[in-house]
Amino acid sequence: MKSKITVIGAGNVGAQCAYRLAQRDFADIILLDIVEGVPQGKALDMAQSGSIEGFSSKIIGTNDYAEIKDSQVVVITAGLARKPGMSRDDLIHKNAEIISGIVKQVARHAPQAVLLMVTNPLDVMTYHALKVSGFPANRVLGMAPLLDAARMKHFISELAKVPANEIYAEVLGSHGDLMVPIPRLSTVKGRPLTELFSPEQVAQIVKRTTDGGAEIVSLLKTGSAYYAPGTAAAQMAEAIIRDSKQLFGACVLLSGEYGINDVCLGVPTRLGKKGIAEIVAIKLTDEELGALHKAAAAVKQLCTIL
Ligand code: LAC
Repeated sequence: MKSKITVIGAGNVGAQCAYRLAQRDFADIILLDIVEGVPQGKALDMAQSGSIEGFSSKIIGTNDYAEIKDSQVVVITAGLARKPGMSRDDLIHKNAEIISGIVKQVARHAPQAVLLMVTNPLDVMTYHALKVSGFPANRVLGMAPLLDAARMKHFISELAKVPANEIYAEVLGSHGDLMVPIPRLSTVKGRPLTELFSPEQVAQIVKRTTDGGAEIVSLLKTGSAYYAPGTAAAQMAEAIIRDSKQLFGACVLLSGEYGINDVCLGVPTRLGKKGIAEIVAIKLTDEELGALHKAAAAVKQLCTIL
């Protein structure tokens, strides 16, 4: 029997995540949404591509939480997305309400699952899901640092003219304006950006990475990014199911790591079947650590208004 992953929210990000998971062919997928017909229709459409793509994963669309039973991972993408001019934080109240309802259902029907949050504002929603679920901290994490690092790799690869898979990018902090990309630890074939590019070029990469989501929102005008976000969530769900212990940036509860407490923030982690297998401590400069603490304080402040 294949593993079982549920994706909640059959919008653009959820559908992309479900489809990327199905194509990877290692798990059966439940796609759940409250809108009748949409998860069923999208799941049927995806399943019909199976013989062309060559996958045998089952994809079931549903409105019924009873179907998520025994899921090892539940990816939560439901909620409102940004419109142009909105920050991720503008979504906080509405999405907190949506997430509360969903997480209570997940805790009831799939109490052993690892919760992978995608809904924005990501760091706040991850903390909120942790509190509402009552799950242990290792079983609740958020997606975005992997996405942010992928964006940074893309911008570096354009400038360095090398494939993105020869690049390492380190991005910590919050999934928002207080993101903390670390050029000193980001490398092209082992050489740090700070050696390869001028300070202006490095600053440009950092800025485009931090504004990566907003740049797409302003182009699309009616919504936010979904190909890279959905794929990043699928990649993390796969690492969890396969118990890979792969190193990824993830948004996790910090309890003293980096001198930060009681806030969910992006840091390097290793993921495995229990969720977060390890929070990896890397040595930061005072300035980098200061930026991380500033992000932590801002996220903490937002969590107080929930
Ligand atoms: C973005 C949204 C998904 O960064 O937060 O595109």
